[in-house]
Formats: sequence, C-alpha cells, structure tokens
Amino acid sequence: MRSRNTTGGGVDFQIEGKAATRAIVLQVDRRDRNAPPSADRDVAARLDEAVGLALAIDLEIADRIIAPVTAPKPATLLGSGKVEEIAERVKETEAELVVVNAQLTPVQQRNLEKAWGAKVLDRTGLILEIFGRRASTREGAMQVELAHLQYQKSRLVRSWTHLERQRGGFGFLGGPGESQLEADRRLIQERISRIEKQLESVVKTRSLHRKGRARVPYPVVALVGYTNAGKSTLFNRLSGAGVLAKDLLFATLDPTMRVIALPHGRKVILSDTVGFISDLPTSLIAAFRATLEEVLSADLILHVRDISHADTDAQSEDVNHVLAELGIDEVRRGRVIEVWNKLDLLPPEERAAREAQALRRPGCVMVSAVTGEGVTPLLELIEGRLGAEDTVYEIALAPEDGAGQAWLHDRGEVLGRRNCSDGRILMKVRLGADKAGQASARFGAAMRALGARRLAAE
Ligand code: GTP
Repeated sequence: MRSRNTTGGGVDFQIEGKAATRAIVLQVDRRDRNAPPSADRDVAARLDEAVGLALAIDLEIADRIIAPVTAPKPATLLGSGKVEEIAERVKETEAELVVVNAQLTPVQQRNLEKAWGAKVLDRTGLILEIFGRRASTREGAMQVELAHLQYQKSRLVRSWTHLERQRGGFGFLGGPGESQLEADRRLIQERISRIEKQLESVVKTRSLHRKGRARVPYPVVALVGYTNAGKSTLFNRLSGAGVLAKDLLFATLDPTMRVIALPHGRKVILSDTVGFISDLPTSLIAAFRATLEEVLSADLILHVRDISHADTDAQSEDVNHVLAELGIDEVRRGRVIEVWNKLDLLPPEERAAREAQALRRPGCVMVSAVTGEGVTPLLELIEGRLGAEDTVYEIALAPEDGAGQAWLHDRGEVLGRRNCSDGRILMKVRLGADKAGQASARFGAAMRALGARRLAAE
C-alpha cells in the first residue's frame, strides 16, 4: 500500500486494507472530421496505452471498451445508445470509475457521470493523476499540483481523488453543493496564487544549483522519448544505476542523473527525463518545462524509441514536435542521436528492414536495452559526437598560478597534471571549442593543442 503523500499533486488511491478501485477503460474511436490527430493511430494500441496508464495508478481493470464516435455529441460526446450500453456494463461490473481516453468538456464529464452512476476521469485528468504520483521533487510536485488546480478550476468540480481524500471513503457519486463549489473555486484560486509564489523561489534556487553544475566539466547527455520507450532501462544499462524501471508508464518524472564513463574513459552526465505522451495538454507542457530543462541545456540528446511499437513513427513525431516546442531547433537537432530500442522484439524480417533503414540515417543506432545488444556502438557514437568539437591541450603554468589551475578545472576536463623539471606545472585539459578561444587569450603561448583521439585513449 502506498503511504507517500507529496506536497500536493501526489494522491493516494489505495487505503490500507481497501481493494483497488474498479474501473472501466473506454477508448473513444473518433471517426468524425474534427477528430484529434491521434485518432489516426491504431485504436487497440491506444486502448492498451490507456490501460497502462490506469494500471500505473493502481486501478483494477473491470472491462475495456472501444466506442466508435461518428458524430460527437456536445452533451455526452458518445451517442445515446453507447451511453446506455456502458451504463449497463458499469452496473454489471460494479465499476466505480470510467476512464475515458479522450478530452471531455466539463459538461460532458458531468453528464456521463450522471448517466453511468460512476465517476469519470478523462485523459487529462488521468495524466495529471499519474504525474502527481510520479513527482518526487518538491518542484515537480508543485508543478503538478498547479496544473491540477488549473484543470479543476476549469471544471468547477473537485478532482475525484481530492474528494476521496476529504471523505476518506470511496463513494464517487454526488459532489459538493453549489455554495461549496463557490468556496472551492476561491480556495483553488488562493492555492494557485500561493503555489505560483512558492514555485518562483524554488525555480530560483534550482537555477542557482544549475549554475553550480554548469561548472562540472562533463557534458550532459539527456535521454528523452515516448513513455515506455525504455529510457529508464537504457539508463540503467548505461549507468548500472538502480533507478526505477518497470512496466509502469511515467516511471520517471524528475530527471535522474548519473556520471558514466565512455569506452575511452571520457566522463559524461547521463540524465533520464520524463516520458512524452500524445495529446499532452499544452498547459501540462508548460508545467513540465522546468523538468525538461535538462534537455534544453544538454550537450547531446538521446531520443529513445520503442521501434517494436505499432505507432513508433507517430510517437517519434510527437517527441520531435515537443522538442521543437521546447526550442530545440534545427541546429540543436544535430545534437540528437536516435536510439531505436527493443530490437530484440522485432521479428527477423522487420529487424533486417529496420537495420537497413538505420544504416542510411546518420546518428541512428539500434539497441536492446534489455539484452545489451548495440549498447557499445551507441556509447562509441556518443563519444564520437562529443569529441568532434573538443580538443585536448597541454598548458604549462607557473607553480604559483593557482587561479589558472582553477580556471581550467572550471571550464575544462582536466585529464592529467605533472610537474616539469623547470618547476612549472603541466596540465592536460580537454576543452570545448567555445572555451578554447578564452583559454588561448588567457594562457597564450603556454598552451599547445594535442590530438584529441590519441589522448582520449590514454
Ligand atoms: P517512462 O518512465 O514511462 O517514460 O518509461 P521509460 O521510457 O523509462 O520505459 P522503461 O525503461 O520503464 O521500460 C518500459 C518497459 O519496456 C519495461 O517493461 C521494460 O522492461 C521494457 N523494455 C525496455 N527496453 C527494452 C528492450 O530493449 N527490449 C524489451 N524486450 N523490453 C524493453
């Protein structure tokens, strides 16, 4: 049983000794002209994803239903026949909750709750619950709570979990009376203002920490990718670190960092990030911007893809779209390596076709994070990419030039240091192209470039 209760967004669904909430997961299959772009995708795969999300918040799946919609109804989204049919299923299965994998308007949500006699959670609500569960830092939890409150404010109803926490039970029906709603709205607004203020100070502190880290001379390699693509598994494989990796979506909300050594000894900081998801509401993208800051400042981005997934291409487009929204422009794209993961799951023919495809694309590597296949070529590619712009220098310093030594430690990766017979100190340092110019201005003739490759292998 979970007992973690975060600053806000994290919510406990199971109470000690209480059975999991029974839920029906409903995949809406929009076939009308205004359907969201994700409607092109395989409907069974989308239902699977929704079930995955529901399991990630410990719901017990009573049934899974696909509901085609040809003419969306403003009041209920679904046609009346379908609404009745589902009401029957709710009764038969004694479900307490229907997860509707679509965006519902507040009116649709309320009407469906009435018609089904069960609580309804739409896609945004579901993602918010998951984010709330996974937020482990104070800032993450606050961002989630903020997004959650803004969502609730627009709905004028309390989130079902909030309601449960207050009542300490599992009666989903009914809701607060009108005057209660008014009071809630005021409370929500007050809480939003308070969190916004707190966030400001947390973000300030964070950027101070970031500045501190910017002086660490290791380049940052960030893993991004669609949820469940295998980022945490690859992160573990690359770092041998024990971060949470399991078949739960969004197992990683807050960035996790590890220092790893590449084949020729060069060190990098590996950073695992939150998984992307289709149809992520814009308000959430904004709320998670800071979480994704690591990606913005990364030297290299590994875009991890589940190449065995039916929708792998659409998923990849989603990620690229979000990266573009985050300002990772065409120039930065050169910093992206595509990692085609789960190659062990491909049938032989598809594997051969994918391998041929990957070969034609520079910066594309096929791996299996589970078996380890392809991981060494990936590490070599990372090293090659990072090394491309760096050069190793030997710089001779006067023994009393402590400031010079500190300068080099701050801005480069110090690979070695030895005392010369004339008393000077010879520092061997790897510098990025941007720092090399500054170094040359500071150290002048005392600085000499060496072959990066040869030294990297030493
Ligand atoms: P989020 O945290 O939701 O963003 O997920 P993630 O991208 O970090 O995925 P995670 O590493 O948790 O992996 C999701 C599932 O895919 C787990 O069940 C993994 O065991 C499985 N998986 C990851 N990589 C591979 C692989 O190379 N082969 C196979 N067969 N399964 C894999």
